[in-house]
Amino acid sequence: MNPMVWERRLYMAAHPFAYPLLRALARRGPVVRVPGVGVVVNDARLARDVLMDGETFRKDGPGSPGDLWTPVLGPSVLLNMEGEAHRLLRRRLTGLFTPGYTAALCDRVLAAPLDRLSERLARGAAVDLVDAMRTLAGAVIAEVIGLDGGEADYRRLFARGEEIVAMVSLRTRRLSPRQVARARAVLAPLGDIAAAAYAAGDERSVMGRMRAAGLSEREARGAAAAFFLTGTETVATLVPRLIALLHDAGRLDPGVALDAAIDEAMRVTTPTPVMLRGVRRPAAVGGVAVRPGDRVVIATHNCCRAYGPFDPDRPQPPELRRLWFGAGPHFCIGYPLATAETRAVARAVLARAPLTIVHREAARGVLIPAYRRLIVRSRAA
Ligand code: HEM
Repeated sequence: MNPMVWERRLYMAAHPFAYPLLRALARRGPVVRVPGVGVVVNDARLARDVLMDGETFRKDGPGSPGDLWTPVLGPSVLLNMEGEAHRLLRRRLTGLFTPGYTAALCDRVLAAPLDRLSERLARGAAVDLVDAMRTLAGAVIAEVIGLDGGEADYRRLFARGEEIVAMVSLRTRRLSPRQVARARAVLAPLGDIAAAAYAAGDERSVMGRMRAAGLSEREARGAAAAFFLTGTETVATLVPRLIALLHDAGRLDPGVALDAAIDEAMRVTTPTPVMLRGVRRPAAVGGVAVRPGDRVVIATHNCCRAYGPFDPDRPQPPELRRLWFGAGPHFCIGYPLATAETRAVARAVLARAPLTIVHREAARGVLIPAYRRLIVRSRAA
């Protein structure tokens, strides 16, 4: 089966009006000015130029995308900062998520739940991977913020993240005062847990590492909340999409080159389909003039899809350089964690191949396109 059929269904179920528009814009050229939307960039090289120029194209200040989260998270949480302050905070966080540390974190936290998942697959049970990811992604983010709990706590944590992300649609520029109050109320207890882990200062924990890196308690709390909001649903929705893509491409077997397949799945799914910037000074993007106050919409999805449909054997186009994680000063700081988590879960599922998808449904009206259910059964059982 063409693996892109279900991917398109997921996008259509999530964004029935915006998705066809977004894809139509890709055919209008590398840069298109769309009244009411902004200057849309569909080309990977131009997107990278914009992302690298943090002086002109910004995530802070009035009217910028940072406005969305600043009332909830405070003014200094990376994703709404620019310039020297952003550089300094990023520098202090450099060693936080190394590949070695994140792989060990995932091994430690996921070993028991993955054993249970594996055992269910081994005895031939029908397993909903979407549901399984709630516990798994919840467990990883719980470890990041320092929550010591069990499966029920992880699920609750995951649901809290979903509740906040559900407040945002592609059109949302600001949250209402009620939404801000609700989001802050949801995040407050998590901030307290993160602060307690920070105070304990165990350098094996993420919060302890932040303290050792010289972050203040307030900065560490903010970073924990930002990780929670950006790093939970992105990974949780990707893993079932990866498994479905491999299944539909006839490549769901333990012999597949997994890291290349993960990169390729990220390329076609782009869990963060757009990136936004506010223009601070006059400039041009691919020959289109932009003025202060303009909004630039990097259509990451269009940039990445321009290289064709899912093909795990395709060498990654070098100019993309994982554009699905961004580029330049705001490049995803959680990239090693996202990769380690995806790899750990996918490896456990692939070990039970061959698998059949016995049922699947697309999630409707969500921000990040996703399966609502993806039920698989091992034929090896
Ligand atoms: C599949 C999973 C993920 C994808 C596709 C993804 C994608 C991205 C992208 C595209 C950006 C840049 C946005 C921009 O420039 O406007 C970004 C930034 C960020 N990501 Fe991720 N991300 C993922 C997982 C994670 C995880 C697991 C964490 C942390 C635990 C995380 C934390 C962050 C933070 C804090 C930023 C802001 C960095 C800054 O502004 O300096 N992300 N992510």
